[in-house]
This record gives sequence, C-alpha cells and structure tokens, in this order.
Amino acid sequence: MTDALLRDLVDAARSAPSAHNTQPWAPRIVDGAIELGVAAGRTLPIGDPTGRDTLVGLGAWTEAAAIAAAHAGRRLEVEALPAMRDPEAVVLARRADPVARLTLGDEADDDELWSALGARLTYRGPVQRVPGFLSAVAATVPDGMRLVPIAARDLTRFATLGFADILARRGVAEELAAWLRLSPRHPRYELDGLSDRVLLLPRAAAAAGAPFTRRRRLRDAAAFLARHGGDLVRRTLLEVPVEAAGDAADADHFALVVDSNELSLGSGAELTRVLNSPLGLPAETVFDAGRALMRVWLQAAQQGIAFAPHSEVLDSALAQGELEYRLGLGRRAVPLFVASVGRPVEQSPPRSPRLPG
Ligand SMILES: Cc1cc2nc3c(=O)[nH]c(=O)nc-3n(C[C@H](O)[C@H](O)[C@H](O)COP(=O)(O)O)c2cc1C
Repeated sequence: MTDALLRDLVDAARSAPSAHNTQPWAPRIVDGAIELGVAAGRTLPIGDPTGRDTLVGLGAWTEAAAIAAAHAGRRLEVEALPAMRDPEAVVLARRADPVARLTLGDEADDDELWSALGARLTYRGPVQRVPGFLSAVAATVPDGMRLVPIAARDLTRFATLGFADILARRGVAEELAAWLRLSPRHPRYELDGLSDRVLLLPRAAAAAGAPFTRRRRLRDAAAFLARHGGDLVRRTLLEVPVEAAGDAADADHFALVVDSNELSLGSGAELTRVLNSPLGLPAETVFDAGRALMRVWLQAAQQGIAFAPHSEVLDSALAQGELEYRLGLGRRAVPLFVASVGRPVEQSPPRSPRLPG
C-alpha cells in the first residue's frame, strides 16, 4: 500500500518545473521511502554552476509530491541528506547518493493546490497583468523569504544584459543547444528540453535552427557566433542604459529573495563558509525556496496566471549585481529566482513534455 502511494507521489511530482525542462530528479522507492537523487546528465554544469536551479527544481518536485501526499490524506516528511551540499552530486550529478529522503507521516488535510498541479503554466508570450496578484501571493511565502517587485524597464535591461553576458561564456550556448528541440523530428521532442512550440518560435526560425541543435559541428559553429555576439551586446549594454520596456510593461515581475540573516547559520568560520559559498546560502535553504516557489506558481495557476522565468538575470554576475543594487538588496539578501507573471493572451498555451514515469 505504502509503495503504491509513493509511486503515485512520484508520478504527480513529474509535473514540476525545471530549468530547460531537464527534469533533474531521480526518485527511487526504497524501504517505504522515496530517496530523491539527481539524475546523471540532467543538470546544467555550465549554465548553473552553483546548482541553484537544480536545487530549486528538486524543491519544486518535492512540494508537488507533498501536495499529492496531502491529497491522499498524509503528510510528507522531508529530510535533507548530506549529498544535498555536495556539488559532485547536485551540480555534476556524478554521485548517485540521494539528496533527500521523503517518508509518509501523520494524517493530513487535503491541499487546495492539488487541483492546480496539472494547470501550472509557463508562458513566454504576451500576457495581461493581473493587478494585486503579486502582493496577495507575496503574503503567503514563508518567513525569511520574500517576493520583491521589479520595474518593467529594469527587468528588460537585466534580462538583456544577463542573456548577452551568459552567452559570451564558453560552453553556455552549446549546453543550451543540447536542450533545444526545434523540430518534431528531434528524437527527444516528446520527452524533455525546450521545444519550438513552448519557445513560441516562428516556424521558419525553428526550421532554420533545428539542424544546429542536432549536429555537433554546426552547433559548435553557432555557439561561437553566439558567444561573440553575446560579448558585443554585453559590452554595449554596459555603456548604454536600456529604458524601453516593450512587452515587459504588460506583466508584473519579481525576484524571490532569501534573507539569510533571518536564518540561523551559526557564527564565525561556519557562517563565513556559507556566505562565501557559491550559493551564498545553505543548499537546504535553496531547496526549501524551490518548495515555496512551487506553491506561488500553483497559486498563480489557480487564477490562470503563468510564469515566464528569467534565470539569465541571476546566471550573470553583472545582471545580478545590477538587480541587487536596484532592489537595494544587501549582502545577506540572496535572489534565487526571477520571473514575469501575467495571464496569457493565448487560450491554451503549449505545454512542455515529461519523461515517462
Ligand atoms: C529553476 C528554474 C529556472 C528556470 N529558468 C527559466 C528561464 O531562465 N527561462 C525560461 O524561459 N524558463 C525557465 N524555467 C521554466 C522551465 O523552462 C520550465 O519549467 C520547463 O520547461 C517545464 O515546463 P513547464 O513549467 O511548462 O512544465 C525555469 C524553471 C525553473 C524551475
């Protein structure tokens, strides 16, 4: 009975979001528990060298499993394991050790977000603002975390600068290209990655780009051009402030920020080690932020509101620095996720596929 329920939770959690739709989770049911590992080959060691996005995705997966457990009348107890702090396990997925153990606990009331699991939306096209949504949902995030609004013109600048900056980094364009599925003929079109449909690419652009995602030599050539193009844009943007808001003006934008001074992080060398670590936070905190983020994303879904994430803002030290300055974030306020939110103008936005259960 327990194993059957755990299998249902694993199945429900597959709907969780993940960077580039990598689906980095590797759950196994062992001795009446779910051992959650990181799937080899499903992380982004170049684009996500700190493991931030992987941990956020694993947190979102876990929250989905917890919501499914509550729907079945049980609490899900979540224990972070030492491997969660190990970049070999999280960033590179080279260690098979689980990063968390999930077990069924006491009875629980159903979670009202259950019905939103299948309705959660990521949408990168035109949206309409839903006044009041961000401030209402901001009140629901746990202590120590907050949703900080970002002005539309600032988001435009951070996103453009961030994208150009990360593309200029060696290996990033190649890594991204490996997760693009620009034609239904791609062998993984129905499994994972980002398709032309969810990226809302015009048919001609997708057709022109598709061979670059499948043939390594073409991919490397395109990555070379992107790298140098990215560098040019980055340098230009550092000189020229971008003011035009464009489509961004129609959405709301926010950063999910963790205030590390509200956590008990110890003192002295221990504290310094955490603050100076690549994540700037304990891995468990980033994982918990992924859980909180999932709840916000699902609350949005309940109202037909979609997220358009902008990780490029945080993947670039330049763009992240500008964001921190603009939002007045001190050294101990760590942004973990940036997104635009709004109600898609399109009726049935395309969905990303999932690996079979
Ligand atoms: C941690 C994280 C980072 C993400 N970063 C981006 C991003 O920078 N740009 C983007 O368009 N989507 C981003 N996404 C959204 C994913 O691409 C999306 O969740 C995935 O493709 C699955 O699609 P779905 O959310 O529609 O199920 C991110 C998602 C997560 C969880």
